[in-house]
Amino acid sequence: MSARRRVWVTQPVFPDVVDRLRDHFDVAAAGAVTAYTPAQVADGLRDVDGALVGVTDRIDASAIAGANRLKAIANIGVGYNNLDIAALSAAGVAVTNTPDVLTETTADFAWTLLLAAARRVTEAERWLRDGHWTDWSFERLLGRDLHGSTLGILGMGRIGRAVARRALGFGMRVLYHNRSRLDAAVERECSARWVGKDELLAASDHLVLVVPYGPGTHHAIGAPELACMKSTAVLVNIARGGVVDDAALADALQKGRLAAAGLDVYENEPAVHPALLACRNVVLTPHIASASEATRRAMVSLAVDNLIAALGEGPQAHRPPNLVNADSLLARGT
Ligand code: DGY
Repeated sequence: MSARRRVWVTQPVFPDVVDRLRDHFDVAAAGAVTAYTPAQVADGLRDVDGALVGVTDRIDASAIAGANRLKAIANIGVGYNNLDIAALSAAGVAVTNTPDVLTETTADFAWTLLLAAARRVTEAERWLRDGHWTDWSFERLLGRDLHGSTLGILGMGRIGRAVARRALGFGMRVLYHNRSRLDAAVERECSARWVGKDELLAASDHLVLVVPYGPGTHHAIGAPELACMKSTAVLVNIARGGVVDDAALADALQKGRLAAAGLDVYENEPAVHPALLACRNVVLTPHIASASEATRRAMVSLAVDNLIAALGEGPQAHRPPNLVNADSLLARGT
């Protein structure tokens, strides 16, 4: 009988879900949340056939140089800019992600940040907890309305569309910018109108960023873009750090060139730019947009299904539901 294959689970994630991997493989699962060094990643991948990884685990060409058995990486996340897809494809390593299951939860969170930033919720709470509330003032902590305003969405994939659909309830006009325009039927369903990026920046009262991160979207919102926005506008980033130039954003927030921001992602996570930490008009959360219990479980479950299938086991053997790099199979000759 041939030896069982091995998989590495890089972070502690719902052990009862991860246990499904044990029906097929020997599993080495991390006992604690770990920020791996590149050498530790290379070590972990060296003798395994597959890995279940989180979006903070970086895997590039050097990480897989000695990973001769590696055939599949299942990312627990829809975004996969932590992975060097070209290098993994060339090495015949199938990569999967977890789309769809987090769409609605993440869209909910865009609105959480938008409402909190526009209505100064965390700033107000800090003020109250600090004991300042000794009288009631009519002009205190005035925020910005959502109803009747214009919502801009940069990136109109699944999550962007889910954000747009929620705007109907607030009676907002929705504009979006995306490389390609949506079908007219989808635009109607989202009540959203395509505009160029410049118009999006200039016309939005509230701008939500939902684009994937890559060379084409690095600092998609930097000083020049911020200068085009209304000084009364609110910016929300639930996409990825690096889409926004954090230093430029902090500068705009401090100088009153932007009213407020709600951020879930940062350029150097888990470090947050000190200038952002110093701004009172920004709501900061630690990359939790998809973090409802049900959704995080669903993401891990989907990643487990993907890994089982990518390693040729289970009902979807060799047909992982969310394969990102079909060319890896060619490189492998599958
Ligand atoms: C994703 O799925 O890409 C999120 O950022 C992590 O939950």
